[in-house]
Amino acid sequence: MFYCQKVITPARLQKKCMNNHYSSRRKFLKKLGLSSGALVAGKYTETFAQSNSDTYITRLDKQQRIASGDNLQIALIGAGGMGTNDTNTALQVPGIKLVAVCDLYTGRLDAARKNWGNDIFTTKHYKDILNRKDIDAVIVATPDHWHKQISVDALNAGKHVYCEKPMVHSVDEGPAVIAAQKSSGKIFQVGSQGVSSLGNEKAKQLLKEGAIGELNYAEGFWARRDPVSVWQYPIPDDASEQTVDWETYISNTEKRPFDSKRFFRWRNYTDYGTGMAGDLFVHLFSSLHFITNSLGPERIYSTGGLRFWNDGREVPDVLLGSFDYPKTMVHPAFNLSLRCNFVDGTSGTTYLKLVGSEGSMDVTWDDVVLKRNTTHEEDPFLKTKGKQNEMRKQILPPSSITYKAEDGYKGGPYDHMFNFFSAIRNNGKVVEDAIFGYRAAAPALLCNDSYREKRPMSWNPEAMKKP
Ligand SMILES: NC(=O)c1ccc[n+]([C@@H]2O[C@H](COP(=O)([O-])OP(=O)(O)OC[C@H]3O[C@@H](n4cnc5c(N)ncnc54)[C@H](O)[C@@H]3O)[C@@H](O)[C@H]2O)c1
Repeated sequence: MFYCQKVITPARLQKKCMNNHYSSRRKFLKKLGLSSGALVAGKYTETFAQSNSDTYITRLDKQQRIASGDNLQIALIGAGGMGTNDTNTALQVPGIKLVAVCDLYTGRLDAARKNWGNDIFTTKHYKDILNRKDIDAVIVATPDHWHKQISVDALNAGKHVYCEKPMVHSVDEGPAVIAAQKSSGKIFQVGSQGVSSLGNEKAKQLLKEGAIGELNYAEGFWARRDPVSVWQYPIPDDASEQTVDWETYISNTEKRPFDSKRFFRWRNYTDYGTGMAGDLFVHLFSSLHFITNSLGPERIYSTGGLRFWNDGREVPDVLLGSFDYPKTMVHPAFNLSLRCNFVDGTSGTTYLKLVGSEGSMDVTWDDVVLKRNTTHEEDPFLKTKGKQNEMRKQILPPSSITYKAEDGYKGGPYDHMFNFFSAIRNNGKVVEDAIFGYRAAAPALLCNDSYREKRPMSWNPEAMKKP
């Protein structure tokens, strides 16, 4: 995080931050091969013309070290879709070995042995995993309502933890995870992979260098339509109390009779899931906070409704969120708008856009499309040549440039796992630790409160408390 370190008066602070902004902007222009005096459109044109083809981006942090002999043994707790993906990604990192898997459904344990070999230890009790001395780190990929308890228990048992997003199921659970990370001294990383991606790193660099000027607005959007993508997962034929440890599953929520939908389609129910905001908005909070160094919004308002998927779900299928980010020492005040539509005929659209006074950036994990606004009044060419014949058409600079990851880039998920294991091996740090994870989860969870209570919610992002 970049904070102004010294205590200074508001006026001096403003000046200092503006100076930082202009010096960043100068750096950006310099990088583009321009003089720092002004954004000279003639040169700017040239630079963009040269970059007309895609510009490749490579890792900004040079953390590609793996100490030899640093083998780490891991276990997976929650071996469903994402747990399986996370484990397969982790196993691509050199020196990582899976030794145990925990899940509450027999079918998942059978699948785990099939995927990773009969010699792995399997159990339905996560504490069996935590009691083993041969496990260095665990991946927690259960439904959201188990994240806090398993993470805290794992940290207290001396394990490093990779916990899927959202870090917690409710806002009041965050401090316990932060405290456990601190007291255990172990590495704890939340699983919003985007923050480790080349695309997010590049966007952070471009914003810092002033490529879009002063940030004033950001937006994100998800559109989905097909049943599986909107959480109507298939339910296995053998789902029953014989194959599912239902009592453990609901032991930290309301007692209910066995219900296979509540187990296999947990995202639709508020006892276990966190709705669209906890599932999807949280990714964009993570990326946005990483790119901008922001601590989070102070005002949160959401609205939406259940329009189509009347399958017993307790959460909306259209959700809109508006967020006010206060001015801080590292960014101006800006607004964020997030939308999620599960009845969307366009299907499959997801994006994150940052808008500034001089341009915008569309950010994904693999690329950044930078667009500059099209007013070229500072261009000396247009000022002189253009004036000779008012009727004459002008030559305009390209308005966008694409920074794209090189072919063969392993992607954000790999980088995120790599960063987690590197931090363990090098006694280092991760970006998405418990504090970062909480600051991303809290506004998402408050979105759900706002939707239910039909009123804006306030949040103190610095103190991480409701005011
Ligand atoms: N980072 C990402 O891009 C991403 C993508 C998808 C899901 N996720 C997150 O991963 C988590 C899992 O989601 P999923 O889609 O894999 O769900 P899933 O239903 O496919 O898998 C969850 C698994 O956890 C098991 N389980 C439930 N309670 C348990 C407990 N107490 N102990 C052990 N196992 C338990 C279930 O049997 C199931 O196999 C969620 O928190 C979700 O938000 C993250």
